[in-house]
Amino acid sequence: MKKHFFFLLIAIISSKMSAMVTTASRSAMRSISFYLFRFDLRIRDNSALIAAVQRSKKEDYFIPIYCFDDKTNSQTPFSATKSSPERTQFLIESVASLKGGMSSSGTQLMVGVGDTAEYLSGLLSKVQDSGEELGDIKVFCQEEFCGEELKVNRSVERAIKAFNQKRGHPNPTDGSSIVTSIWGSSLYELEDAPFDANSAPTVMTQFRTKMEKNCAIPNCVETFGRGHVCGGIPEALKGEGDKELPGLKDLGFDETELSQPDERAAFNFKGGEENALARVQEYIFDLDLLKTYFETRNGLIGANFSTKFSPFLAVGSVSPRYIAHQCKKYEAERVANKSTYWVIFELTVRDFCRYFAKRFGDKIFQLDGILGREARGRHPNSIRWSYNPTLVEAWKEGTTGYPFVDANMRELKATGYMSNRGRQNVASFLALDMNQDWRYGGYWFEEKLLDYDIYSNYVSWIMAAGMTGGRVNKFNVVKQGKDYDPKGEYVKLWCPELENVPVGKIMEPWRMSKDEQKEAGCILGVNYPNPVVQMKVFQKRDGGGKDGYKAERKKKNKEKYKGGKYSIRE
Ligand SMILES: Cc1cc2nc3c(=O)[nH]c(=O)nc-3n(C[C@H](O)[C@H](O)[C@H](O)COP(=O)(O)OP(=O)(O)OC[C@H]3O[C@@H](n4cnc5c(N)ncnc54)[C@H](O)[C@@H]3O)c2cc1C
Ligand SMILES: *[C@@H]1O[C@H](CO)[C@@H](O)[C@H](O)[C@H]1NC(C)=O
Ligand SMILES: *[C@@H]1O[C@H](CO)[C@@H](O)[C@H](O)[C@H]1NC(C)=O
Ligand SMILES: *[C@@H]1O[C@H](CO)[C@@H](O)[C@H](O)[C@H]1NC(C)=O
Repeated sequence: MKKHFFFLLIAIISSKMSAMVTTASRSAMRSISFYLFRFDLRIRDNSALIAAVQRSKKEDYFIPIYCFDDKTNSQTPFSATKSSPERTQFLIESVASLKGGMSSSGTQLMVGVGDTAEYLSGLLSKVQDSGEELGDIKVFCQEEFCGEELKVNRSVERAIKAFNQKRGHPNPTDGSSIVTSIWGSSLYELEDAPFDANSAPTVMTQFRTKMEKNCAIPNCVETFGRGHVCGGIPEALKGEGDKELPGLKDLGFDETELSQPDERAAFNFKGGEENALARVQEYIFDLDLLKTYFETRNGLIGANFSTKFSPFLAVGSVSPRYIAHQCKKYEAERVANKSTYWVIFELTVRDFCRYFAKRFGDKIFQLDGILGREARGRHPNSIRWSYNPTLVEAWKEGTTGYPFVDANMRELKATGYMSNRGRQNVASFLALDMNQDWRYGGYWFEEKLLDYDIYSNYVSWIMAAGMTGGRVNKFNVVKQGKDYDPKGEYVKLWCPELENVPVGKIMEPWRMSKDEQKEAGCILGVNYPNPVVQMKVFQKRDGGGKDGYKAERKKKNKEKYKGGKYSIRE
């Protein structure tokens, strides 16, 4: 009897004790917040990153992640690949710089290759296997609006829920999700916009006026730093953070595939946050070019006619707000006029594309854009698209017989850059003169552009093709060439076979007589192609009349600069 009582006592005490132990270890269990970097590879003015930090507890683990796509050399639809070796190299440089930024902020960027959800699950298993019990797991990232990025969002959500189930940890039951995406990397803040995200204007001018009238460009947020990562990272992941970055080979390319730098290239910068800031400083202040941006922006040759901020903005090495604030500073210190405003104007166009993509999602990749299939044959912008591989190939290679188109397309292929003037012309030419399915162009740009940005690219393309429903701007590529390359210097730079063609005919070499061709050493069909299609100069489009572009330009020239249209939050 006594003996039994004794054992019972022991049993009660020990069960109490073990209960105490579990409560103690539960409360010491640390939660993890992952931050998934995508197109916001920077520590300065990264509003989504800072918001994520603020939504996590100081003592919790905060783990920054970047996961490379290992299939950047794989095929996309429309016979193009996902990236060029050059853009992938630029991305590697940008991630390397972010890794440096993270380590100076007191933490380690974990870098994976392949499927993001798998990579995260792997990290979590490592922690689990080390015997450390984790609390809740959350994932934060900057909000993206289309296809693949949303898929990643969903698969990460699924993977972590499965991990929780396996370890017997409750999943959120209140309907909240594990992945939280946070708006970021725009000039104007979404919540300041005077419209609902689902009714963002589809016409640029309306968008801009509404934004400029109702919103101020917010201040930059604090730089990510040591104070934000007090929780450190789990012991089991320290080795992971020390791993070397993948190289081109790991991402499907070979060093030997990198083209030799072309001395004619307009963009020759290396990737990374420091290089982005250096270019902003150089363009605006050191070279003092901001004050003439409006006059030079339609240029075609060299680094200085426009900012060349685009590849940095595309991966998020610099924020548009930071640039706007630098412009403002320049205006205060030096001069304010239409030129200094116009860079902010262009950043507003960039915003327009983001807001557009948020509203319409994957429609920006579709042949009929936001008009939808049902518009075919009904909407005035509707086109009977065709696909002729020979024509599309001529366009890509720069052998259409239209020198202004060919020069631009050759530049793109050789260097990964093309001016805005060029992009508008070649896009219009493919879609509206050649009548080819514009997606062959969109995907080719995606492959080749160093500054490829989902939203700017596809929204620009559906606009060029008229698939946003507004007035179509068809470009007369001969006239545009004469206006913007009056001496033919740009054309000669990329089409040296036209070197000796008289300036008056350089944009339309088919007007040369046989004798003139001989004299110029440029026989059509031998040294330079005959035009592969007939240009449709006076096609009647929505808005009536002739070349839509002319009307647009007349209107633009009339528009006077009235000073300081935008405002910046103080
Ligand atoms: C068919 C087509 C496809 C395009 N694809 C892309 C793309 O994939 N990525 C991309 O960044 N831009 C794209 N653009 C926009 C524009 O041509 C480039 O942003 C610009 O030429 C980049 O050079 P920059 O940085 O020197 O520009 P700047 O003239 O110096 O302009 C400053 C910044 O403003 C923004 N910007 C300027 N013009 C536009 C525009 N029309 N649309 C959106 N943003 C703009 C860019 O971020 C640019 O870096 C495309 C335009 C067209 C017509
Ligand atoms: C990401 O996924 C979560 C959960 O599925 C969802 O709540 C959230 O809205 C998604 N974000 C975007 C931008 O789709
Ligand atoms: C840009 O301008 C600066 C200053 O005039 C000059 O030194 C530099 O060579 C220019 N860059 C290019 C690529 O033309
Ligand atoms: C802006 O000011 C600069 C310096 O005075 C001048 O060179 C430039 O032409 C001006 N640009 C515009 C568009 O007014």
